[in-house]
Amino acid sequence: MILMTLQLVGVAVAVIFVISVIKASVRPANFPPGPPSLPLVGYVPFLDVRNIGRSFDKLSKRYGDVFSVFLGKSPCVVLNSYPVIKEALSMKEFSGRPSMFSGTFFQKGKIGITTTEGKDWELQRNFFHNHMVELVQGKGNLGFQDLILDEVHDLKMDLAKKVGEPLPVSYRFNVSIINILWTIASGRRLHSQQQEFQSVYECIDKITQFMSRAAIMSFIPGLSRIVPESISKMEKGRYHRDRFLNISQKWIREHKEAYRGNRGADLQDAYLAKVGEGAESFTEDGLGAVLREMFVVGSETQSTMLRWAIRILSVHKDVQRQVQDEMDELGERNRDIVWEDRHNMHFTRATVAEIQRFADITPNGLVHKTVADVDFHGFYLPKGTNVIANMTSCHRSPDYWKKPNEFYPAHFLDENGKFVDAKEGFVPYGIGTRRCPGEDVANMAIFLILANFLNTFSLRLPTGDKREIKTQYEAGTGFIRNPQAYKVILQHRE
Ligand code: HEM
Repeated sequence: MILMTLQLVGVAVAVIFVISVIKASVRPANFPPGPPSLPLVGYVPFLDVRNIGRSFDKLSKRYGDVFSVFLGKSPCVVLNSYPVIKEALSMKEFSGRPSMFSGTFFQKGKIGITTTEGKDWELQRNFFHNHMVELVQGKGNLGFQDLILDEVHDLKMDLAKKVGEPLPVSYRFNVSIINILWTIASGRRLHSQQQEFQSVYECIDKITQFMSRAAIMSFIPGLSRIVPESISKMEKGRYHRDRFLNISQKWIREHKEAYRGNRGADLQDAYLAKVGEGAESFTEDGLGAVLREMFVVGSETQSTMLRWAIRILSVHKDVQRQVQDEMDELGERNRDIVWEDRHNMHFTRATVAEIQRFADITPNGLVHKTVADVDFHGFYLPKGTNVIANMTSCHRSPDYWKKPNEFYPAHFLDENGKFVDAKEGFVPYGIGTRRCPGEDVANMAIFLILANFLNTFSLRLPTGDKREIKTQYEAGTGFIRNPQAYKVILQHRE
């Protein structure tokens, strides 16, 4: 009798489970197909959170280039090849951003560029993008280049003191990148020993760490209420977010006091001029949000790329040597490499681009959302559908790359050894309407830092280094793919 009761209970539990899985897996009519889902958490427990790109690739083999997975309770469409990613992200219908925990928590709402959509987003983004392009391509570009080169001199001087010893380079690179962003924001450089610099550095570092840890909460929002503070570190996240908010408000107050009409020299002046004109969507709070996201998004991405670059080049000594040979051919080893030199540095540019492809630092970009009902590849995506583009499917595709899993600068050279600028399948900055507006600044900064660095130093591996180039996989690494921690030995070039 007891056995029968237990069996009945077992069957009932199994039936309830199957029904709840079926209910949780219901997709809108004619929605892209995908695997079944668990209630509340969706397909998340079955994804390799350390390498979501790989999990998506596996699912794509079964369900095609446009499929869907439940991340939490909502189905999310995944685009898993370069052609579908390019097509979708170029359409205005795919230009929305979901109200996700990681973005809205950091900005305390939908404000700035990264988290907004529609008219506000367009106005803010166009302003920011134009300002960045002007810095690199406009009349004042030599001034901006000089500021970067000043930073590179300081970086080299600091590191010259450590020649010959195994050292982690990450902190010093972060300092340079933050200082470059600082000059964009305020038109001046800061000393890394200054208290203000240390506070900003700490805020960016802690906010990025928190957002990585909290990435999962974007898909399962209920977690923020049940996960204990010791794990979620929510209070600390809040503290650093508010601290950075106060710092950005203080910058704006000080900038306003010194403001004498639009001098156009820095981002804050240019933005405050729009506020003064009463331009639609421009407010002081909006300026604070744009500054904060520029620092958080712009610093972590560029420092991570430089960390990959140093690791990859210290393992691939042959490539390092070829870059140095190319610079020697320009003559005058003792002068600075400037942005204009890039036209004669095909191998160096191919190397930098290949570092970006191989490192694939934003494997899933940022999540998009449809802003209208869309018919796409025979499927129906209602307004408000979340969409993820799996950039790894582009950067590791044998359709575009001869050696997709190897580091191979020749991917970016034509048969005459000339650098090939726009390659199909190359999307480190995303593609389409929401493509990264900081791309020009990042390309210039990374090129100048790396080229001048290699013009002065050679990179060597410490004894015992296994020459592996590995990713630092941590649960919930979130937006950015980091290299495993390493040390490198710098030597002055002979
Ligand atoms: C190596 C450096 C960088 C990489 C790899 C990178 C990559 C990306 C990617 C993949 C996106 C998401 C695109 C999408 O939503 O489809 C993005 C967005 C963005 N990036 Fe970058 N980025 C870099 C540097 C920068 C810098 C230096 C800045 C600022 C100066 C910046 C500011 C932004 C902003 C504001 C957005 C949001 C754009 C929007 O939502 O419309 N990024 N970036």
